[in-house]
Amino acid sequence: MAEMLGGWKRSHKCGDLRASDIGKTVLLMGWVHHRRDHGGLVLVDLRDRYGVTQIVFDPQLADKAMKQSHLIRNEWVLAIKGEVTKRPEGTVNPKLATGEIEIRCNEVKVLNPSQTPVFPIEDDVEVAEETRLEYRYLDLRRPSMKDKLVTRHKTAQAIRAYMNANDFLEIETPILIKNTPEGAREYVVPSRIYPGKFFVLPQSPQLFKQLSMISGLDRYYQIARCFRDEDPRAYRQPEFTQVDIEMSFIDEDDIYALGEGIMKTLFKEVLGQDLKTPFPHIAFCDAMEKYGSDKPDLRFDLPMGNVTAISAKSDFKVFKDVVTRGDVVKAINAKGCADFSRKDVEELTAFVGKYGAKGMAWFKVKEGKLDSNIVKYFNEEVQKELLTALKGEEGDLLLFGADHIDIVNESLGALRVEIARRRGLIEKGPKWAFCWVVDIPMFGKDEKGRIFSMNHPFTSPKEADVKLLDTDPMKALSKGYDLVLNGFELGGGSIRIHDTELQSKIFKILDISPEKAEERFGFLLKALSYGAPPHGGMAFGLDRVVMLLTGTHNIREVIAFPKTAKAIDLMTGSPSEIDPDLVKDLKIKFELEDLT
Ligand code: AMO
Repeated sequence: MAEMLGGWKRSHKCGDLRASDIGKTVLLMGWVHHRRDHGGLVLVDLRDRYGVTQIVFDPQLADKAMKQSHLIRNEWVLAIKGEVTKRPEGTVNPKLATGEIEIRCNEVKVLNPSQTPVFPIEDDVEVAEETRLEYRYLDLRRPSMKDKLVTRHKTAQAIRAYMNANDFLEIETPILIKNTPEGAREYVVPSRIYPGKFFVLPQSPQLFKQLSMISGLDRYYQIARCFRDEDPRAYRQPEFTQVDIEMSFIDEDDIYALGEGIMKTLFKEVLGQDLKTPFPHIAFCDAMEKYGSDKPDLRFDLPMGNVTAISAKSDFKVFKDVVTRGDVVKAINAKGCADFSRKDVEELTAFVGKYGAKGMAWFKVKEGKLDSNIVKYFNEEVQKELLTALKGEEGDLLLFGADHIDIVNESLGALRVEIARRRGLIEKGPKWAFCWVVDIPMFGKDEKGRIFSMNHPFTSPKEADVKLLDTDPMKALSKGYDLVLNGFELGGGSIRIHDTELQSKIFKILDISPEKAEERFGFLLKALSYGAPPHGGMAFGLDRVVMLLTGTHNIREVIAFPKTAKAIDLMTGSPSEIDPDLVKDLKIKFELEDLT
């Protein structure tokens, strides 16, 4: 049975006591981490957020407490009264901050017993992630999980301190908002008071932060919860946290300086590491061409070369067909990898297959020539050109992708990282490789030929490219930027449009009719017409920053109560059906489509 506190007050935490406290009478509260029966004595490691303290139950000292100590089990919650004593010779534990002392228990209260935990509260034990998420409150008792949350807390505090010191105001923006698409699908909330009408949850505070600039607030930040009803993807959660920033009367350089300042401060305060700034810039099209990705991992080089024109001169049907179709041939020079076995190459072919590649041509560079099962289709001249274009040298392995540009970039982009991993290039490179991806096009086209905003529709074009909006909008570059670290997109943003006419023009290019634009974004267009200052900003994914700071690649590890990769909360069991009365109040009738 759980006992009440009965006036007992905790005097110290379980990580507090040292040799200098010997002789004090203390009262500790915490969980039973381990219990060991040593014949005459029972030893309990009592744990709380701050550490572990050894408690000694001795029949000579307190018979009642001793009897109770035989009943207690792991994860019971205890309150212990006792005296701090020096540990006997030979039992000092130098690994533990409290390792020089122990508490000789006079009295104990069982504040709560516990069922046997479903997994040991220890780091380094293999437990299925589903079980950990279902029993997250137990999982978070594990020291390494607690440490990640502490790092997250420190990160948020360091950001707040930095922003406050730089004159930013922390402003909260609404969670129930009007549907204003930015790109992702939104979660929908029905209004009970206005049946048939809906709010949505913000995918980011984008328009509100812009409106706060129009309000003259000059510098805004918020550690903001964002919601996106997307299909599950790696490094994403349906609800996540952004460090959201907006500033007035600034240009891109101000954002770069701010972003670098924040990162420098964070890495110093959280990890004690000095970052080199400024971060390099890479143009979006160069990142795609050289690394096949808009978030290149620059801890190693391994660039890819475009060999479409050269490949057209070969007799290899696959390449020739691809070129005739207007697709591309690109290749990576895996430096010094000619020792890869047939099995290695087969594995890499299967690897690119996961990204849609239908095959992977390869050549080894041997004695100044190419060697491969398809070399007969490449005459000496073409071989020479390939070697020159790809800087092929003795012992290199050239790996080719030939397909639609998106498939080639994605598969070879992933292959580049896989080769670096296999060859240990990542460890050999710098620990942190930041870059700003800049010169991002304003627009892209989907497979149906529809134009979409590469950033979001509120992003300003580069001044020199404004005129292209009328003639060739697909060529126009934006004032957008992404911050990338070790192949992860940490953040993104842009200088915004602060002019109603230009904003309307962008909506038109995006095929949003003036009526639709008025209906969806009328409030923004109106606000822009009341003296909107030039402004811009960015947002970092806080979860992703903490993920990298704590050295994990699983975003769920740094969120206290995350959803699974399939967007479910296993602990509470949501999403779930809701009380029919709640639905009735909404005056909505719904029928599920046949999902079979
Ligand atoms: P963007 O959509 O690029 O920009 O988001 C900014 C950063 O937020 C993080 N992020 C996510 N993290 C976890 N799970 C997700 N589902 C998820 N989606 C995004 C990423 C990303 O770089 N309003 C603009 C910012 C601006 O223009 O100022 C925006 O939301 O780290």
